Amino acid sequence: MRLFVAVDIPQATREAISEFIIRLKLRANGLKWVDASNLHLTLKFIGESTDLAMISDCLVAVPGPQFEIALRDLGSFPRVLWIGVHAPPALGQLAQRIDQALAPLGIPVESRPFSPHLTLARAKDGRIPKFDEHPDFGSFPVSEFVVYESKLASSGATYITRGRFPLVQSA
Ligand code: 2AM
Repeated sequence: MRLFVAVDIPQATREAISEFIIRLKLRANGLKWVDASNLHLTLKFIGESTDLAMISDCLVAVPGPQFEIALRDLGSFPRVLWIGVHAPPALGQLAQRIDQALAPLGIPVESRPFSPHLTLARAKDGRIPKFDEHPDFGSFPVSEFVVYESKLASSGATYITRGRFPLVQSA
Protein backbone atom coordinates (compact mmCIF):
# COMPACT_ATOMS: atom_id res chain seq x y z
CA MET A 1 0.00 0.00 0.00
CA ARG A 2 1.04 3.61 -0.61
CA LEU A 3 1.49 5.37 2.74
CA PHE A 4 2.22 8.86 4.02
CA VAL A 5 2.20 10.67 7.36
CA ALA A 6 0.30 13.94 7.67
CA VAL A 7 -1.48 16.44 9.87
CA ASP A 8 -5.23 16.47 9.35
CA ILE A 9 -7.10 19.74 8.75
CA PRO A 10 -10.16 20.51 10.93
CA GLN A 11 -13.56 20.42 9.24
CA ALA A 12 -14.29 24.16 9.62
CA THR A 13 -10.94 25.09 8.04
CA ARG A 14 -11.51 22.51 5.31
CA GLU A 15 -14.85 24.15 4.48
CA ALA A 16 -13.35 27.64 4.36
CA ILE A 17 -10.58 26.42 2.04
CA SER A 18 -13.12 24.58 -0.08
CA GLU A 19 -15.04 27.84 -0.70
CA PHE A 20 -11.76 29.57 -1.54
CA ILE A 21 -10.93 26.81 -4.04
CA ILE A 22 -14.32 27.20 -5.71
CA ARG A 23 -13.55 30.92 -6.28
CA LEU A 24 -10.03 30.31 -7.59
CA LYS A 25 -11.16 27.52 -9.91
CA LEU A 26 -13.14 30.05 -11.94
CA ARG A 27 -9.94 31.95 -12.70
CA ALA A 28 -7.52 29.18 -13.64
CA ASN A 29 -7.25 26.53 -16.31
CA GLY A 30 -4.94 23.55 -16.40
CA LEU A 31 -4.87 22.93 -12.65
CA LYS A 32 -5.91 19.74 -10.88
CA TRP A 33 -7.45 20.85 -7.60
CA VAL A 34 -7.24 18.83 -4.39
CA ASP A 35 -10.61 17.58 -3.22
CA ALA A 36 -11.46 19.42 0.03
CA SER A 37 -11.90 16.11 1.87
CA ASN A 38 -8.29 15.23 0.96
CA LEU A 39 -6.60 18.41 2.23
CA HIS A 40 -3.66 17.51 4.48
CA LEU A 41 -0.23 18.71 5.54
CA THR A 42 2.33 16.05 4.60
CA LEU A 43 4.99 15.33 7.23
CA LYS A 44 6.56 12.34 5.51
CA PHE A 45 5.89 10.49 2.27
CA ILE A 46 6.60 6.79 2.87
CA GLY A 47 5.60 5.34 -0.50
CA GLU A 48 4.86 1.67 -1.15
CA SER A 49 5.13 -0.50 1.96
CA THR A 50 3.52 -3.57 3.46
CA ASP A 51 5.03 -2.90 6.91
CA LEU A 52 2.15 -0.98 8.46
CA ALA A 53 2.51 -2.73 11.84
CA MET A 54 6.24 -1.98 12.03
CA ILE A 55 5.71 1.59 10.84
CA SER A 56 3.10 2.06 13.58
CA ASP A 57 5.47 0.62 16.21
CA CYS A 58 8.12 3.16 15.18
CA LEU A 59 5.68 6.09 15.13
CA VAL A 60 4.18 5.32 18.56
CA ALA A 61 7.63 6.03 19.99
CA VAL A 62 7.93 9.47 18.34
CA PRO A 63 7.73 12.13 21.07
CA GLY A 64 6.40 15.61 20.46
CA PRO A 65 4.32 18.40 21.99
CA GLN A 66 1.01 19.70 20.69
CA PHE A 67 1.24 23.05 18.86
CA GLU A 68 -0.75 25.53 16.76
CA ILE A 69 -0.65 25.91 12.99
CA ALA A 70 -1.78 29.01 11.09
CA LEU A 71 -2.73 28.80 7.42
CA ARG A 72 -2.43 31.94 5.32
CA ASP A 73 -1.29 33.33 1.98
CA LEU A 74 -0.55 31.50 -1.23
CA GLY A 75 2.73 30.26 -2.61
CA SER A 76 3.89 27.93 -5.32
CA PHE A 77 6.52 25.44 -6.32
CA PRO A 78 6.96 25.09 -10.09
CA ARG A 79 4.00 22.69 -10.37
CA VAL A 80 2.22 23.03 -7.01
CA LEU A 81 -0.03 25.78 -5.65
CA TRP A 82 -0.14 25.83 -1.85
CA ILE A 83 -1.37 27.68 1.22
CA GLY A 84 1.38 28.84 3.57
CA VAL A 85 1.83 26.93 6.83
CA HIS A 86 3.01 29.00 9.81
CA ALA A 87 4.02 26.96 12.82
CA PRO A 88 6.52 26.86 15.69
CA PRO A 89 9.74 24.81 15.41
CA ALA A 90 7.81 21.86 16.91
CA LEU A 91 6.32 21.13 13.47
CA GLY A 92 9.67 20.76 11.70
CA GLN A 93 11.05 18.83 14.67
CA LEU A 94 8.11 16.44 14.45
CA ALA A 95 8.70 15.86 10.72
CA GLN A 96 12.39 15.23 11.42
CA ARG A 97 11.67 12.79 14.26
CA ILE A 98 9.24 10.86 12.07
CA ASP A 99 11.84 10.75 9.30
CA GLN A 100 14.49 9.42 11.69
CA ALA A 101 12.12 6.96 13.37
CA LEU A 102 11.31 5.31 10.03
CA ALA A 103 14.91 5.14 8.77
CA PRO A 104 15.66 1.77 10.46
CA LEU A 105 12.87 0.26 8.33
CA GLY A 106 14.78 1.22 5.20
CA ILE A 107 12.53 4.19 4.39
CA PRO A 108 14.86 6.77 2.85
CA VAL A 109 15.51 9.85 4.98
CA GLU A 110 14.75 13.22 3.41
CA SER A 111 17.69 14.87 1.70
CA ARG A 112 15.90 18.23 1.43
CA PRO A 113 14.84 20.41 4.38
CA PHE A 114 11.20 20.07 5.44
CA SER A 115 9.13 22.71 3.65
CA PRO A 116 5.62 22.72 5.16
CA HIS A 117 2.82 23.57 2.73
CA LEU A 118 -0.82 22.71 2.16
CA THR A 119 -1.21 21.62 -1.45
CA LEU A 120 -4.26 23.15 -3.16
CA ALA A 121 -3.64 22.27 -6.79
CA ARG A 122 -1.11 20.76 -9.15
CA ALA A 123 -0.34 21.98 -12.67
CA LYS A 124 -1.27 19.34 -15.25
CA ASP A 125 1.37 20.76 -17.54
CA GLY A 126 3.08 24.10 -17.46
CA ARG A 127 3.36 26.33 -14.46
CA ILE A 128 1.19 27.74 -11.71
CA PRO A 129 -0.45 31.09 -12.56
CA LYS A 130 0.03 34.04 -10.21
CA PHE A 131 -2.96 34.78 -7.98
CA ASP A 132 -3.13 38.15 -6.22
CA GLU A 133 -4.81 36.67 -3.16
CA HIS A 134 -3.83 36.72 0.52
CA PRO A 135 -6.22 34.34 2.24
CA ASP A 136 -6.13 33.86 5.99
CA PHE A 137 -7.68 30.69 7.35
CA GLY A 138 -6.74 31.35 10.98
CA SER A 139 -5.10 28.76 13.18
CA PHE A 140 -5.92 25.43 14.77
CA PRO A 141 -4.36 23.15 17.38
CA VAL A 142 -2.53 20.02 16.28
CA SER A 143 -2.95 17.21 18.79
CA GLU A 144 -2.05 14.20 16.64
CA PHE A 145 -0.55 13.04 13.39
CA VAL A 146 -2.01 10.44 11.08
CA VAL A 147 -0.82 7.64 8.80
CA TYR A 148 -2.87 7.56 5.61
CA GLU A 149 -3.07 5.00 2.87
CA SER A 150 -3.45 6.66 -0.52
CA LYS A 151 -5.45 4.75 -3.11
CA LEU A 152 -4.89 6.22 -6.54
CA ALA A 153 -7.55 6.00 -9.25
CA SER A 154 -8.28 7.86 -12.47
CA SER A 155 -11.09 9.67 -10.61
CA GLY A 156 -8.55 10.92 -8.01
CA ALA A 157 -6.94 9.80 -4.76
CA THR A 158 -8.78 8.39 -1.75
CA TYR A 159 -7.09 8.60 1.63
CA ILE A 160 -7.81 6.00 4.30
CA THR A 161 -6.73 6.55 7.91
CA ARG A 162 -4.42 3.70 9.00
CA GLY A 163 -3.27 5.05 12.37
CA ARG A 164 -3.52 8.06 14.67
CA PHE A 165 -0.61 9.11 16.90
CA PRO A 166 -1.30 11.60 19.71
CA LEU A 167 1.03 14.45 20.59
CA VAL A 168 1.64 15.38 24.20
CA GLN A 169 -0.27 18.26 25.77
CA SER A 170 2.23 20.82 27.05
CA ALA A 171 2.11 21.51 30.79
P1 2AM B 1 2.19 17.36 -0.76
O1 2AM B 1 0.97 17.43 -1.60
O2 2AM B 1 2.00 17.88 0.61
O3 2AM B 1 3.38 17.93 -1.44
C1 2AM B 1 0.27 12.01 -0.51
O4 2AM B 1 0.49 11.43 -1.76
C2 2AM B 1 1.16 13.19 -0.29
O5 2AM B 1 2.51 12.78 -0.24
C3 2AM B 1 1.06 14.18 -1.42
O6 2AM B 1 0.04 15.08 -1.15
C4 2AM B 1 2.43 14.82 -1.44
O7 2AM B 1 2.49 15.84 -0.48
C5 2AM B 1 3.32 13.71 -0.92
N1 2AM B 1 3.97 12.97 -1.97
C6 2AM B 1 3.40 12.26 -2.94
N2 2AM B 1 4.30 11.68 -3.72
C7 2AM B 1 5.50 12.03 -3.23
C8 2AM B 1 6.84 11.72 -3.59
N3 2AM B 1 7.13 10.95 -4.61
N4 2AM B 1 7.79 12.26 -2.85
C9 2AM B 1 7.51 13.06 -1.81
N5 2AM B 1 6.27 13.37 -1.41
C10 2AM B 1 5.27 12.86 -2.12
